[in-house]
Amino acid sequence: MRPTLRADPTRRRGRGNPTIARVDVIRVKGGARLAGDVAVGGAKNSALKLMAVALLAEGRSVVANVPRITDIAIMGEVLRRLGCDVELKGNEAIIDVPAEPGAEADYDLVRRLRASICVLGPLLARRGFVRVALPGGDMIGSRGLDMHVSGLARMGAEISNEHGFVIASAPQGLRGSKIWLDFPSVGATENLLMAAVLARGVTEIDNAAREPEIVDICDMLTAMGARIEGAGTSTLIVEGVDGPLKPVQHTTVGDRIVGGTWAYAAAMTRGDVTVHGVRPEFLDIALDKLVQAGATVEPGDNKFRVRMTERPKSVDIVTLPYPGFATDLLPMALGLAAVAEGSSLITENIFDGRFMFVNEMVRLGADIRTDGHHAVVNGRDRLSGAPVRATDIRAGAGLVIAGLCADGVTEVGEVHHIDRGYPDFVSDLANLGVEVERTDVPEPTFDF
Ligand code: EPU
Repeated sequence: MRPTLRADPTRRRGRGNPTIARVDVIRVKGGARLAGDVAVGGAKNSALKLMAVALLAEGRSVVANVPRITDIAIMGEVLRRLGCDVELKGNEAIIDVPAEPGAEADYDLVRRLRASICVLGPLLARRGFVRVALPGGDMIGSRGLDMHVSGLARMGAEISNEHGFVIASAPQGLRGSKIWLDFPSVGATENLLMAAVLARGVTEIDNAAREPEIVDICDMLTAMGARIEGAGTSTLIVEGVDGPLKPVQHTTVGDRIVGGTWAYAAAMTRGDVTVHGVRPEFLDIALDKLVQAGATVEPGDNKFRVRMTERPKSVDIVTLPYPGFATDLLPMALGLAAVAEGSSLITENIFDGRFMFVNEMVRLGADIRTDGHHAVVNGRDRLSGAPVRATDIRAGAGLVIAGLCADGVTEVGEVHHIDRGYPDFVSDLANLGVEVERTDVPEPTFDF
């Protein structure tokens, strides 16, 4: 029997029963070939921080090209609780910052949005005091904050960890300093940058992260009146300014991870997809791996086209800080390897828990063995559709795409993870020719 996407009607009998909860799933029918055009919006990981950058200037800043995802709404709420007026309209975040913003971010929001830790730097710079809940770990790993803390301490802040909060104060203001990061942490670089722009004197951040999102933040800060040199290199030199920064309007850089997701999906399904809104040079290594796997990649101006006519060939992939292969594309790399001809060695160097979702890929028939931060993948011609669940944003997207290369229907649960990073995932898939639906299914709860 040909598998269809229609839900089993018997599974709906629980509606109205108090012991049956309903949860959203995405169902895709395997065997799809992605073809067409897809538009990618602003990068989540930039837009969230640009909203925090706005805190550095009193008045109305506008961050344009923000993705319409829950994380942006949560960040809006974090800023509202700090006394800002925040309006999310279309793809804009309009943020009116008071003369004296609040200095506290509570656990109820920080636990839902780890990125809200990025208010630490700007608030410390503006208020001389800040109290932000510790976010804790998540499904991709432990995620420390030591480099954020030691960098701010070098700039003269006194920092303690009390009752689940990181509390920092610098009553005399922060002072410029030389900071060496042990690792080019994205979050630490951002927090230190945002703190340094209002510090007394010059701050040098060495081994800084070089991601396009960091450059985006530097661009907004510079437009506000900050003095930064070296954006996009490993050494950032920030000359603190005395006067207040001014609010600005800034457009978020395109989301290279969403763009990369479509590129891998095109190659895995032997499709032909043009991705608009992302500069191909931000995906240099990821796209080159696709060429090695047999794809044709045509770069353009803020767009690129990926075509694949044959079964992908296996390629080895190692994740590294930018400009290395992005860890956020690791699930797509595993997916490609899972359907490639031959064996691939995939190495993860950023997050200790990134392979947590591998068991879900195995449920789809992938032949993957992991050992520490390595995965050995023996490609199969076809995977096998099954119910699986998303464990984080990127794993969720990776599982849906792997499902496109499987026989039958794949149902991905816990799709709220996917919603956090991919604003129009289901409609984009449908527009590219996939038989896909999002629906809610009953999930029994067991009372004791
Ligand atoms: N780390 C420490 N100590 C620190 C800071 C980081 O040990 O003080 C470790 C982390 O535990 C992790 C590694 O360094 O193992 C990398 O962390 P980094 O600070 O670079 O990452 P992040 O700022 O927490 C951002 C993105 C991630 C993305 C990484 C790496 C946001 C909101 N998140 O996280 O995005 O994977 O950079 O590129 O910007 C996603 O979007 O799905 C996502 C997880």
